[in-house]
Order: sequence, then structure tokens, then C-alpha cells
Amino acid sequence: MKSAADREREEDGMRHRKCRGKKRIRMTAAAMIFLLLLGGCGKQFEVDDTGGETSSDEDLIVVGVSQLGSESMWRTANTTSIEETFTRENGYLLVFDNARQKQENQIKAIRSFISQQVDYIVFSPIEESGWDVVLEEARDAGIPVIVMDRGLKVEDESLYVTRVGSDFRAEGENAGLWLEDYLEEQGRSDEEINIVVLQGTNGATSTIGRTEGFEEIAARHDNWNILEQTGADYTTTKAREEMRRIVKQYDDIDVLVSQNDDMTFGALDVFEENGITTGVDGDVIVISFDAVKSALERVQTGDINVDIECNPEQGPAVESVIRMLENGGTIERDYYVYEKIFTQENVGHYINDRSY
Ligand code: AHR
Repeated sequence: MKSAADREREEDGMRHRKCRGKKRIRMTAAAMIFLLLLGGCGKQFEVDDTGGETSSDEDLIVVGVSQLGSESMWRTANTTSIEETFTRENGYLLVFDNARQKQENQIKAIRSFISQQVDYIVFSPIEESGWDVVLEEARDAGIPVIVMDRGLKVEDESLYVTRVGSDFRAEGENAGLWLEDYLEEQGRSDEEINIVVLQGTNGATSTIGRTEGFEEIAARHDNWNILEQTGADYTTTKAREEMRRIVKQYDDIDVLVSQNDDMTFGALDVFEENGITTGVDGDVIVISFDAVKSALERVQTGDINVDIECNPEQGPAVESVIRMLENGGTIERDYYVYEKIFTQENVGHYINDRSY
């Protein structure tokens, strides 16, 4: 997960370690001396578990994480990555909240992290706008905010420290570039190509980026007709509903671009119900995003032509940022996770190692 540049920056941060007046750091010998110099200003947190380690909680870095929901397999993997990273063993106390797809719940969670005086707030914004007020409250409380996965738009960029996530626009462009090459290989570059796009959650960076990236490539081709772009909220159920309507409306779909695997599964169900074949030997070319294991299996069998990876394992990268902050390192504006593109040709090399 960590790029060479990340590691370099992290090491650089360590070389330039300086006192930022944080209240607790990990209990290395140097840290203990540091705490003594600070006058032992550690905080006490009440933890509702049976681990019996509450007495040493002041050693831990307290991280409040607001996850936007559990709408997809990707999201579950992202949550697992956070939970496996921010453990007591690693020196953290994780305060986790699942906002169940509601921005108001995320705002409530962030306010609750502020009142608990956590050391860092990490959150994955369900949509880009509407965060200024609560992030000002976090800033007033002196709590650094790290944005994970999707991005946000705020008046004052200094309201958050950095964003760790995917380059969604590049993902969308990669989908378009793959289609360009594939049509050329198939000798179909000059054919009229009818495209349907299933989009994710309205207003989410992943939806916006993937849409804009794909549209940019599509705009180069007068013969690519985007018949419809419709939102299906990144869920299988909504995708099934939308696709049932769409296959009734159009009888000449050449390409489905589905902005996540969960929606792709819903669409594949509907194609099957209607006797429409998909993938490498089928009537409809299927482009999906995320690359969870069950979708890679459908790439291997040829039902999905290509899966553009969106890497959910962002916990370690967020943790690197926190360590850099602890060590007084310089933080970049964005950290992008490494992502690949899977087709039937290369998927066999990766599928067995997929843990989600
Ligand atoms: O923001 C990332 C997207 O959100 C993933 O592609 C999708 O599966 C998730 O729900």
C-alpha cells in the first residue's frame, strides 16, 4: 500500500522529528522522555470493552473514523482495512462509526469525535459538499482531519490535512482508454457504439471522477453514443431495478459501464434474465470498477471484460500519514493508492491473493 515516495517521506519525517505539542505518542523510550518533558499531559479515555487495558489508554493515539456506510463489498473491505490497522497492538484506540449512507450521521459522528477529544478524525465523505461548518468545529478544537476514499469541496482547503484515496478521474479515463483499445482489436473502431452507464452515489467523488474521466475519452469518438447515465447508488438492488427499465427501453446496448462491482452483479442478473449475453464472447461489453474477488472470478470466466481496480486497503496509508504528523513530517495534499486493471489475460496472476 505504501509507495516508495510515501516511505521516503515517512523516513524524512523521522529524520526531522520535532515537537508538535501533541499530547501522547507511542511509548518508545524517546517518547517517554518527551512525555516527561511535556509534564505528563496524557489523556484518559473510557473504553467499553473487556480488554482490561483502559489504564494504559493514555499511550494510545485515538482515531475517530466516520465510515459513510456499508453499501458495497468494497466498503466492507475498506472498513476491515481500517479495523486491522488501528489496533491496540499498533498503538491506536479506534472509535468507529458507520453513518449508514447519511451525511447527517457523518456530521453527528464527527461532532461526537470532537467532544471526545480524539487525536485525529478520519472520514470518508459520502458526498463532496456540506462539510465546512463541522470541519471548522474540528479545527477550532485543534483536531487534524484526514479525508479517506472520496474527496470534498470546502471554501478553506486548510480545513483538512490531506486526502488518502483513489484517483477516480484516472479510473474513468482508464475505462475509456481500455474500450478504445478493445474496439480497435475487435475491428469495431468505426462502428456506432451504444453505451449505458450505471453511476454510483450522486455527488460522490468516485461517481464524479469516473463519469468525467470516461466522458473525456468518449468525447474523442463521434461514434460512441452514451444512451443513458443513471444513478444506482453503488448497490445491486438499485442496479437491478434500473437495468430492468433500461433493457426494456434499448434493444441495442453494446457496452455497459458500471461504476462498481455490486451494481455490475445486478446488471448481469438482468442481462441473464433477458437472454442477453455479456463479456468476451457475448453481445454486451462489460466494464466494471472495484475488482473485488467475486467480480474477478467473473472476469476470469469472461462475463465481465475488464475490472478497473479501486483499492480499498487504505488503512495503512492513513496510518502512515498519522505517523508523519506525529513525527512532524511534511504532508502532501493527496496520497493516491496503487491500482491495477484486470482482464481475462492477467487476472489469474492476482485472484488467489485477493482477500476481499
Ligand atoms: O468511493 C469508492 C466507491 O464507493 C467504490 O467504488 C464503491 O464500491 C463504494 O461504495
